[in-house]
Amino acid sequence: MSNIILTGDRPTGKLHIGHYVGSLRRRVELQNDPKYDEIYIMIADAQALTDNADNPSKVRDNILEVALDYLACGLDPKKVNIFIQSQVSELCELSFYYMNLVTVSRVSRNPTVKAEIAMRNFEQSIPVGFFTYPISQAADITAFMANIVPAGEDQEPMIEQAKEIVRKFNATYGDVLVEPEIVLPTEKSARRLPGTDGKAKMSKSLGNCIYLSDDEATIKKKVMSMFTDPNHLKVEDPGSLEGNTVFIYLDAFYEEGDCAKFWPEYNNLEEIKTHYQRGGLGDVKVKKFLNNILQDRLRPIREKRHELENNIEYVVNVLREGSIKAKAKAAKTLESVRKAMMIDYFNDDMLLKARREKENEIK
Ligand code: TRP
Repeated sequence: MSNIILTGDRPTGKLHIGHYVGSLRRRVELQNDPKYDEIYIMIADAQALTDNADNPSKVRDNILEVALDYLACGLDPKKVNIFIQSQVSELCELSFYYMNLVTVSRVSRNPTVKAEIAMRNFEQSIPVGFFTYPISQAADITAFMANIVPAGEDQEPMIEQAKEIVRKFNATYGDVLVEPEIVLPTEKSARRLPGTDGKAKMSKSLGNCIYLSDDEATIKKKVMSMFTDPNHLKVEDPGSLEGNTVFIYLDAFYEEGDCAKFWPEYNNLEEIKTHYQRGGLGDVKVKKFLNNILQDRLRPIREKRHELENNIEYVVNVLREGSIKAKAKAAKTLESVRKAMMIDYFNDDMLLKARREKENEIK
């Protein structure tokens, strides 16, 4: 069996460093691993429209932003296929058929759907399209016969639902679809980066994100005003690492050699942590260290992004070609799906044959 990856993001904003440590960094590793035969990275504009139906220009404008972020991080269109969801209309058709295999109560029990409905205050006014997005997500994955879906923990219920759809489809119509597995970020520190204010999630609406496109001064400003340990009032006080955003970010970004480069008084991050916990190490110093590290990691990304911004035709072309390839792959899957569902009427004159068989039975 071949190893096929599908994953993606909703284009509702520029990507931030939470995306970077949670998924982008990993995708770049995966694209260089010969174990994977095909990699599809989807810009999920149709999904973004399920809760932004009245704001199509927001979704459209962010397609290029997300594509720029992808390429700036080092995703290589020669190795991964970047495409736009809405340009693969086969995904809609698949979703339509899968809807018959899922009950309303099952979707209502999907924890991610439940949480998102609560978060958006939809209550009784949930758009049907939004409600069914786990089904459409199953289509996104299965259309490419993807067996591997690198995603965050929040996507686990989606993949579970996709698996159920695959099993139900295969049991009903015959073995056509591939059951996907989620692959979570390996390091715990990468699973969810809190916002700079210490809130659980980075989110544009909370204004607590550091974007991949932020300039040097903006990054510095955000780091220097980060949430730390609210009880660490005086330098001499012992500090706590628990829930301390600066240290959570250090866990996610620190690499060997960073001390030697930026803070030679210490040999490694562990020493810094110990000193902080003991007391006598001020937040400002640790923040400066984090700032140096972040600048070091983000500078090449930002510079690459600027280059690409000056060559936007290239970016558009990557998306166009990626979408054409993705469409071809999805069309092949759909052919098998239609056949299994016995709705490929004009192949092999299926309608005629069925009719003849019936006539023979009568005779
Ligand atoms: N729901 C994902 C997000 O919020 C985007 C997405 C759409 C996706 N379809 C997918 C991710 C299929 C993985 C697999 O970012």
